[in-house]
Amino acid sequence: MQRILTGIQCTGMPHLGNIVGAMLPAIDLSRQPQHQTFIFLADLHTLTTLPEAEVRRKYVHAAASAWLALGLDPEQVIFYRQSQIPAVGELTWYLSCFTPYPMLANAHAFKDKRDRLAGVNAGLFIYPVLMAADILLYQANRVPVGKDQLQHLEIARDVATSFNHQYGSIFILPEALIDRNIATLPGIDGQKMSKSYNNTVDIFLPEPELRQNIMRIQTDSLAIDAVKDPDTCNVYKLYSALATEVDTATMRQKYLNGGYGYKAAKEALFDLILVKFAVPRRRFNAYINDWGTINKILQAGEAKAMEIAEETMCIVRKALGYA
Ligand code: TRP
Repeated sequence: MQRILTGIQCTGMPHLGNIVGAMLPAIDLSRQPQHQTFIFLADLHTLTTLPEAEVRRKYVHAAASAWLALGLDPEQVIFYRQSQIPAVGELTWYLSCFTPYPMLANAHAFKDKRDRLAGVNAGLFIYPVLMAADILLYQANRVPVGKDQLQHLEIARDVATSFNHQYGSIFILPEALIDRNIATLPGIDGQKMSKSYNNTVDIFLPEPELRQNIMRIQTDSLAIDAVKDPDTCNVYKLYSALATEVDTATMRQKYLNGGYGYKAAKEALFDLILVKFAVPRRRFNAYINDWGTINKILQAGEAKAMEIAEETMCIVRKALGYA
């Protein structure tokens, strides 16, 4: 059976870009019976940039609520917090001793910050090693990721290869699983939707705030009467990522006909989100107010994850002479 594993760093509320680009596709994969799926909350990675415990708790709770609200079935998926499996820290240390310094120095996330080294902690520098440990610990075959994570996956493969070279075939070499049909959504300012750009659409907000969120999407300032170009409009792009083909074609025609304003398009997008995500929004509200239930679900996943992690670690420790 193929093992599929993916994680999301929880450094903010899960937004529409995460949901459409990563979470729903991962949940779809987990429903295929030929896979064993691992989905985890990368809450150790968040420590590289987020020191506050309360904020971390809040984001972990929100991320877990969102996964469950969107349909993750904890009976089918091994669903856990990265931090609750201590072996990942141990394996990170072992792997770090097989990771050449230049490989990490060339990683994009670090390179981007190389001119501000005083603000870079060692955790950020070895971020890719922890990610390799996340994957190799569970002997995952395939890792669904966005394009921005491909380099990290290459690093995981390289580290596993050099470890295997020294000790025999201990680790499975993971492969990236990239679905080119999945849209990268624009944020409300037209750049890629991302927490770091502060341009997200947050579908779990209460209705009035969600409405304001949608109304802030940037457009050009053409008058209602004008003929408009759907292909350069952020509202249309978001609408078409969620709507049926027929509804998308109808909106497209309205743009091309003129007489259809951006306000109306935003209203249509808002209504669509309310309808399409009615069930997840309702469930999210229940989960976000019930940490007890979430905690129980995560603990059950963690017990399963721990067992699989220990299988790998027994082999690794023996190979290294620690057992
Ligand atoms: N780095 C990933 C992100 O920023 C999160 C992540 C951590 C991850 N460990 C992983 C993803 C292992 C896939 C597999 O989104």
